[in-house]
Amino acid sequence: MEYEEPLFFHVIQYAAGADRDVVNMVSGNPDWEPPAALREGLRTYADADPADFQYPPSEGLAALREEIAARRGVESSRVIVTNGAGEANYLALARALERDAGEEVVLTDPVYPYYPGKVSMLGGDARMVPVAPDGSLDLERTLAAITDDTAAVVLNTPNNPTGAVYPPDVVEAVAERCAAHDALLIADEVYDHFVLDAPFESALSIDAGDVVVTNSYSKSMAITGFRVGYGIFPESLVDAAKTRHMLVNVTASRPPQAAVLHALRETGPDYYEAARDRLRDRVDAFTAALDDAGAEYTRPEGAFYVLARFEGFPGTMENAKRLIDEAGVAGMPGDAFGSARADWLRFALVTPRVEEAAARLAAFFD
Ligand SMILES: Cc1ncc(COP(=O)(O)O)c(C=O)c1O
Repeated sequence: MEYEEPLFFHVIQYAAGADRDVVNMVSGNPDWEPPAALREGLRTYADADPADFQYPPSEGLAALREEIAARRGVESSRVIVTNGAGEANYLALARALERDAGEEVVLTDPVYPYYPGKVSMLGGDARMVPVAPDGSLDLERTLAAITDDTAAVVLNTPNNPTGAVYPPDVVEAVAERCAAHDALLIADEVYDHFVLDAPFESALSIDAGDVVVTNSYSKSMAITGFRVGYGIFPESLVDAAKTRHMLVNVTASRPPQAAVLHALRETGPDYYEAARDRLRDRVDAFTAALDDAGAEYTRPEGAFYVLARFEGFPGTMENAKRLIDEAGVAGMPGDAFGSARADWLRFALVTPRVEEAAARLAAFFD
């Protein structure tokens, strides 16, 4: 079987090999500092007892699972610490597809490309539902796509790449429809600390059917390289997910779990607020300059991406490479996220040079 390979690394490599200065707005790697307590936790770990350098429990350090459970208001037995939200999404999709309760996974278009990649790798069929013109979830079409063939629906809110934050009643309506068709709702909330301008509620509060909530510290603590995430599963599904996690990974790495635990305990709300403020400033600066460039764009309500469209310049890989070579700005081609935003380009606000990037775009399209 051929697996589809997401194109992020291809574009990042192309930009790195360019023969000029390039503002890199491709990856989802935060460029800001992790919490001070995270570095502190990691330093302390270097001097830990040799026993702390051995396998942790497969489902994660007990104290970390308890800390997560207490913060999220669930039993710790439902929490599995995973190698990022990426693995939590994989465990949830695998569980959904092996339940013999449908073969289809409903996804939005545009979509974070790792979802359809995982669905096809697991032998399921991705059913893409285009989002509304403003990037919000098209509830009517999404509900209509959920049938007895549906194994799962994946909702990512705040959303990559659209920046939409789905209203709580919309997520609840999807959950109810899932429950009626014995489908799993997978809510990927990896950007939940980056809600900028919209009401948001975790899908954990939903009391309908089977809901798996996935999350991680990759974005909220600016540590995509640490690979610490988690899934919160319904009691009825958690044991099988734990077994798959164990068979695939044995466990997740121990030092980053300990450092995250320390950072969770010692980091106050100021750290997260500062990250949101920084992002708000970047959204303002980048979108103001996009206005000058005459681009159409969606202003994100959350997460850290802006989708933009330039007249007569569709978001193909070829055009993304042209922007790197001729404008010195690297973004992701919209067609890497499906067909609904194939004319657009996605820019990640993970550089302090957003204004400069937008000025370069304005000059290029002038
Ligand atoms: C929507 C979404 N889910 C999951 C991930 C992966 O997160 P993690 O690093 O926790 O695996 C990303 C990374 O960009 C993402 O955008």
